[in-house]
Amino acid sequence: MRILVTGARGMLGTDLCAELGKRHDVAGFDMAEADLTAPASVDALAAQRPQAVVHCAAMTDVDACERDPDAAYAVNGLGTRHVALACQRLDVPLLYVSTDFVFDGAKREPYYEWDAANPLGHYGRSKLAGEQAVRELLDKFFIVRISWLFGKHGRNFVASILAKARSEGTVRVVDDQTGSPSYAPDISAAMARLIESPYYGTYHLTNGGSCTWHGLAAEAVRFAGIKAEVAPIASADYPTPTRRPAYSVLKNFCWERTFGAPLRPWQDALREHLA
Ligand SMILES: NC(=O)c1ccc[n+]([C@@H]2O[C@H](COP(=O)([O-])OP(=O)(O)OC[C@H]3O[C@@H](n4cnc5c(N)ncnc54)[C@H](OP(=O)(O)O)[C@@H]3O)[C@@H](O)[C@H]2O)c1
Repeated sequence: MRILVTGARGMLGTDLCAELGKRHDVAGFDMAEADLTAPASVDALAAQRPQAVVHCAAMTDVDACERDPDAAYAVNGLGTRHVALACQRLDVPLLYVSTDFVFDGAKREPYYEWDAANPLGHYGRSKLAGEQAVRELLDKFFIVRISWLFGKHGRNFVASILAKARSEGTVRVVDDQTGSPSYAPDISAAMARLIESPYYGTYHLTNGGSCTWHGLAAEAVRFAGIKAEVAPIASADYPTPTRRPAYSVLKNFCWERTFGAPLRPWQDALREHLA
């Protein structure tokens, strides 16, 4: 199958292209090919004649989205509409990557795919606008909400913590936000199974288990064999422009009922990542 991947040079997109490339003809599509905020990107995407599209491209800097909401809605909302329009024109399935930030975190137990979204900020609202565009325009789609992504490529939490622990010997990390870390290669392998299947719909996809950011940082430092203090702090002690959900664990209900095995625990994935 010829699969087009937007955001192909991003953290997830890089691993996803490698995974899909094992069995498919993969074409990457980034800013260099076309700016997805422009209507002309619909033609540029359709001209590639894909048989399926995976849409990873997004404005992912949560605080930048809060500072410039119009930019966030242009990329994450309108840009996703353009990708969906290209898929509609070609009548091919779309896998849209969404986020745990569509939830407000008030539930305090794992979110089902059907739980009501209520984003706290513009990043979550703009990604939800992308979900709405996909649902409005397409019959054949996967909306896949992931969370707390880490991997080899791009800017990410685990790499930043390890660099700081090594250089400063101490890191202070928020201990009152709980979520599920997700390893980009594991998420990529699961997404490849989804896009090869006819089981369209909304999915939550994360590694197994949950932790706080402090818990994730402490395990990363321990697995990496770094002698450093990992001190827990409250969100109030680390002010950011964006309110983040205090609890955003995603129950992988549809994935497990449709495909059987849950993804491995996040600690196993982290250990492999740092090996
Ligand atoms: N990272 C996480 O923790 C996390 C959690 C939940 C959900 N997600 C979702 O997962 C997906 C992948 O995230 P990621 O962290 O791998 O992303 P990333 O590394 O930030 O990569 C984003 C990609 O999007 C491209 N892009 C941005 N604006 C564009 C535009 N206007 N037109 C065309 N391409 C554009 C970027 O291209 P350039 O580099 O050329 O600008 C880049 O390749 C996103 O949809 C994100 O919302 C991520």
